[in-house]
Amino acid sequence: MAKITPDDNNQPHVAVRTPAATGSVHLHGATVTGWAPPKHQPVLWTSSKSLFDGHNPIRGGVPICTPWFGAHPTDTDAPAHGLARTAAWTLDHAGLSEEETLLGLGLELPGLKFAYGVLMGHGLKLVLEITNTGDTPRRVEAALHTYLAVSDARKVTITGLEQTSYIDKVNGASVVPATGEPIAFTGETDRVYTDTDHDVVLHDPGLDRTITVSKDGGLSTIIWNPWIDKAARMADFGDDEWTGMCCIESAAVGDDAWTLEPGETRALAATIAVQSTD
Ligand code: BG6
Repeated sequence: MAKITPDDNNQPHVAVRTPAATGSVHLHGATVTGWAPPKHQPVLWTSSKSLFDGHNPIRGGVPICTPWFGAHPTDTDAPAHGLARTAAWTLDHAGLSEEETLLGLGLELPGLKFAYGVLMGHGLKLVLEITNTGDTPRRVEAALHTYLAVSDARKVTITGLEQTSYIDKVNGASVVPATGEPIAFTGETDRVYTDTDHDVVLHDPGLDRTITVSKDGGLSTIIWNPWIDKAARMADFGDDEWTGMCCIESAAVGDDAWTLEPGETRALAATIAVQSTD
């Protein structure tokens, strides 16, 4: 039976160990902190410097960014990426079979209710449902901020976004037209692709695998790698660790944000699949 146990830092988490997958989910932020099917290297990346203190966001896995993404639109004191990733979620139900582990987590914030389903097996499926419990329409952004482990960020490519323009956050949020080319990391990269429902595929020749990230319910994908200087500026990110990760975030942000009517529920889903290429 899936049960809550303390991790090495005494933080509550559920460790998953089944024939179909090993992994973990921390209640802090409902952060999926590990997932690997058998015979695969870890698919999710977590920084060795991440603070597991029940206060700061976990640096790695899949933090949930909501009700806003990035800086709060008006309140400069509000934390980046919303309140959910640093909140204490509850484990509301758990189910286990040979093939899959299903965890249902919940959280309530003023005017909003969240239900998060984590289905962990040979694939990883994440479904975040958000309900407006207030009595006025509410604009909501959400992102499943997925950190993927890679052999070397300088040697991977990402396909699926060639025909989509993007907002370049490294370059003053300028809008860059579709390049027609796969993405390759050659410096700090922080891009918000909007109005796209395409699957996004990470090609990693060093690990002889591809990782496919599919999304549903949101039309944004964020691609992020901090590169050298930004990694050095982050206290919870090892200086050299930027080579071992990149983020492909399934999201509904910016022009793709939702406006939830009172009582309305919408869901953002991400499915992550890993395929060997050797
Ligand atoms: C990405 C943003 O999603 O998250 C970046 O696009 C940001 O701008 C990154 O730097 C990490 O954010 P944080 O708050 O976890 O340091």
